[in-house]
Amino acid sequence: MGEWQRLRYDIWSGGYDWFVGIAPVTAARRRSLELLALEPGEAVIVAGCGTGLDLPLLPPGIDVTGFDLSPRMVERARRRAASLGLAARLDVADAVRLPYPDASFDAAVLHLILAIVPDPVACLREVARVVRPGGRVAVLDKFVPGDTCRPGLVRRALDVPSRLLFTHLTRCLDPLVAASPFAVACQEPSLLGGQFRLAQLRHREAAVDPHSTPADTLESARQRGPDDRRGSPDTA
Ligand SMILES: C[S@@+](CC[C@H](N)C(=O)[O-])C[C@H]1O[C@@H](n2cnc3c(N)ncnc32)[C@H](O)[C@@H]1O
Repeated sequence: MGEWQRLRYDIWSGGYDWFVGIAPVTAARRRSLELLALEPGEAVIVAGCGTGLDLPLLPPGIDVTGFDLSPRMVERARRRAASLGLAARLDVADAVRLPYPDASFDAAVLHLILAIVPDPVACLREVARVVRPGGRVAVLDKFVPGDTCRPGLVRRALDVPSRLLFTHLTRCLDPLVAASPFAVACQEPSLLGGQFRLAQLRHREAAVDPHSTPADTLESARQRGPDDRRGSPDTA
């Protein structure tokens, strides 16, 4: 599966920007990065960076590292960084085995990766390892909309070819995060009428600190409690 994952994104890399570099997706990225509120001097990791479509949207003065499983994607991201004059480190690496020390980043960008990787919880665990305690994580991806994780029949049928070629369609944000070291600090519907979602994650201890995250989302997280999984992390 790892080889196919690499190969299909090597193949996609040529036309990727035509499909994904479109204005509405760029606007969603901007919103996600605005919520992440990177400060000059901070170190950020861009997970599954693809062709580097996030790179031009990062504020100046950030120490940028990115990685992707696909060497062709990384080549393109390196070319983009060079054209922007951005001294980013861009590696070929697997999201579940990162070549970075513990707590080496202040923040992580997870755009369009959690619905792609075979094991999103393992990916979140690895991101939790490399992001320092109290660090921030921005997620933008497609998740089953609504509070209950109940993908309908059509969605489940479409998921079968889609996950082989592009992306999973039946993943649910809340249970997936609940199975990881993170908690959802806040989230909002995004592209395609809420088929995509933006979320900010914090290490679980930080997320229950009332001084570090918005009270309303903290309250709902407390009410849900750690045992409320509302379905499995990946119902595909
Ligand atoms: C839909 S693209 C998103 C790219 C980029 N994050 C963006 O927002 O445009 C998914 C990316 O995840 C990468 N990917 C898939 N599995 C991965 C893994 N296990 N580790 C690292 N990257 C992976 C793919 O190669 C692809 O570039």
